[in-house]
Amino acid sequence: MYNTILTEIKGSNFWITINRADKMNALNIETLQEIKQAVETANANDQVLCIFLTGAGEKAFAAGADISEFADFSEEEGTKMAAEGHAVMFTIEQSRQPVIALVNGFTLGGGCELAIACHLRIASENARFGQPEVNLGLVPGYGGTQRLCDIVGKGRAMEILMTGDAIKAPRAYEIGLVNYVVPIENLYEKGEELARTIAGKSPKAIRSVIECVNAHYAKDIDGFNYEITRFGKSFSTDDFKEGTQAFLQKRKPDFRNAESFSS
Ligand code: COA
Repeated sequence: MYNTILTEIKGSNFWITINRADKMNALNIETLQEIKQAVETANANDQVLCIFLTGAGEKAFAAGADISEFADFSEEEGTKMAAEGHAVMFTIEQSRQPVIALVNGFTLGGGCELAIACHLRIASENARFGQPEVNLGLVPGYGGTQRLCDIVGKGRAMEILMTGDAIKAPRAYEIGLVNYVVPIENLYEKGEELARTIAGKSPKAIRSVIECVNAHYAKDIDGFNYEITRFGKSFSTDDFKEGTQAFLQKRKPDFRNAESFSS
């Protein structure tokens, strides 16, 4: 069904693996479209509680947009490429299930932009992050100049974007670019542990968390008002009834029986 990615459902987790290891999992246009399609497929599946995004092999998560593909693009083609890339990143960012990037090596350019469009990032110790577009006479085109500021702050974003230098995993952790750094052999395990924790919570509340946090960064939405609305709406959900009843009855909530994920 896909040419450049692998997908698999394991329990309540939907796995997307970029499968171009011989090209450092470089993101060509087909790969990006397939990632978008896979996320949309996961979003449409009520059994999926978490989406993992990773790269095949142990060398790269994704070493950027595929340079061989855009080397002779015109301005018009470059603009189209960026607009389409932005749509992919927004699909990930707005996914109703959390998307966790399991970052396993080089995460450069569009690869870094892909990772920071995800909600959470776990890096292997060998991961390297960077935005080397300035070496190619380019600016990042998949939202990197915007999301990097949100995640690491303006000054650090400026440095990453202007130097094009690769950042090692411990530094990435130090500046808040990733949530965890683990040995590569523990990368999937750590992701699954985090997903298990999230899977025990109300999926509707998780979805609202994603929407409220995204609202904070949306230029045209008042995040505080948005939160008031989402908070109010929570009271009409089965998840709220289940969560509060479980607390009062001194038991663990079971959100899976609460039709919690239907929208
Ligand atoms: N686009 C297209 N192909 C890429 C690529 C990219 N972004 N990154 C790596 N590749 C390809 C290489 O061309 C090479 O292909 P080949 O075997 O057919 O020659 C293959 O992946 C292996 O890469 P190689 O450079 O030989 O591996 P390395 O271990 O020496 O270096 C990197 C790894 C990631 C440091 C290096 O590949 C690199 O700098 N990539 C480009 C990073 C970049 O500028 N990204 C931003 C793009 S906007």
